[in-house]
Amino acid sequence: MSDGSSFYITTPIFYVNDVPHIGHAYTEVAADVLARWHRQSGEDAWLLTGTDEHGQKILRTATANGVTPKEWADRLVETAWKPLLATVDIQNDDFIRTTDERHEVNAQKFLQHLFDAGHIYTGEYEGFYCVGCEEYKQPSDLIDGVGDYAGQQVCAIHSIPCELLHEKNYFFRMSTFGDQLLALYEENPNFVQPESARNEVISFVKQGLSDLSISRSSFDWGIKVPWDDSHVVYVWFDALLNYITAAGYGHDDEKFSRLWPATHVVGKDILRFHAVIWPAMLLAAGIEVPRQVFGHGWLLVGGEKMSKSKLTGIAPSQITDTFGSDAFRYYFMRAISFGQDGSFSWEDLSARYQSELANGFGNLASRVIAMVVRYCDGEIPAGSEFSEADELIRGTEKRVTDAATLAISHLAIHEAIAAIWELVDDLNGYITAQEPWALAKDPANRARLEAVLATAVRGLGTLAVLLSPVVPQATAKLWTALGGTGLVSDQRIDRAWEWTGRPRVTPLEALFPRIEATVG
Ligand code: MSP
Repeated sequence: MSDGSSFYITTPIFYVNDVPHIGHAYTEVAADVLARWHRQSGEDAWLLTGTDEHGQKILRTATANGVTPKEWADRLVETAWKPLLATVDIQNDDFIRTTDERHEVNAQKFLQHLFDAGHIYTGEYEGFYCVGCEEYKQPSDLIDGVGDYAGQQVCAIHSIPCELLHEKNYFFRMSTFGDQLLALYEENPNFVQPESARNEVISFVKQGLSDLSISRSSFDWGIKVPWDDSHVVYVWFDALLNYITAAGYGHDDEKFSRLWPATHVVGKDILRFHAVIWPAMLLAAGIEVPRQVFGHGWLLVGGEKMSKSKLTGIAPSQITDTFGSDAFRYYFMRAISFGQDGSFSWEDLSARYQSELANGFGNLASRVIAMVVRYCDGEIPAGSEFSEADELIRGTEKRVTDAATLAISHLAIHEAIAAIWELVDDLNGYITAQEPWALAKDPANRARLEAVLATAVRGLGTLAVLLSPVVPQATAKLWTALGGTGLVSDQRIDRAWEWTGRPRVTPLEALFPRIEATVG
């Protein structure tokens, strides 16, 4: 199915100090929908995800739990982070851990290369470090604490005080890359998106960049600095390199040149690492910068970023156990404009499940298939006497395919789904207007009845192909019921509306069954 062009997309790699919540699953699903869409567009899509396992935060959590950091990481990866992928139906091509040898060895190669090229020097640093962010903070990044921390300055993201550190470290001459970065943002406006993220990054870089401390010596849970094993590599410097070590950097040149550069999907809290530090590191190493860095918004609970540390974390399985993985994927991709913050509420989720998935899409599929069974003995009619109304549906199929494709090209996943939903709504309106149940009463209307059912079945086929990246399970069931050939996930998006259908339908269970239990 591949046309040979590659689309390499990544999620951030997740800290293993805790278990996943729906904010993490949100990032995963967005990247997965994009990867699936590109795969169905004939590209060699490659989705990378994984875990970020070094640094003080993990070390402290492991110590507090009486195990080594590696034991802790192994436990969390196997019991929480890998299972998350199944919970929300992620089709990743690789899973990298920063404790993998392939990562550690090649990250060291990268560092040595930068050192040899003169981009690294020894220096001293004193500053406020937030272990939650794993980052030195500027005074402007701190806010007044409340409650237990009243009277102190705290991290604006974690609401806890930072630690004053004074260390002798290795530094990366990041300050020398400011002009090149500004030129990059200027020449390639798509490099950082959405626009709000781009503007924030540009004004940050315009204020002037400092050099970056890239090693720590007060603890040893990390990759050893290759020329000085009394230091470990700063956890962010280590983590960012996962995107190239997983893609073959330093050990598989063919793979690396095929995959790189990548599109990075990240939360806006980690935008600067990806849009400033990371391209500066790559520029220093003479490696092409990423294709794009897209900063998505936060899931908010009670108006604040949902987070485990603030006890607002909701486990993805709390949603999927009741609603299923398709509903999880659909809801977050549809209800929140990708790139902006969005509030999660159980009420909104239940309401959209019922009205859009169950009544809008699910019922449409059940009704059409039931009518083919009832009026045509299950045989899908070819249809002949097509009318203007039928042609209009055909037109909608083509129009929404194009509109959704355009939306995905600028990562507007919510717009793509909204476009596809025009077809759901139009098909529902079409069935209501054509009244196949009334046509079925008089044999004289047979040709018209067949044209209507043929049009409705084809419309459903188009929907199955277009929605497969978002709701893979429901569309696979629908495809089978329609007698589609092969897997729906192998059908080309750009030819979604060419679907012709097979001889017979088979019964279809409710795609989105009624949910009785109260949730929340
Ligand atoms: N380990 C770093 C990333 C290194 S990438 C080289 C990290 N990990 S994280 O586990 O804290 O966060 C991973 C991702 O989850 C980030 O993109 C972050 O924005 C996202 N989210 C965490 N909480 C979130 C919400 N409440 N809402 C949306 N996304 C959120 O940062």
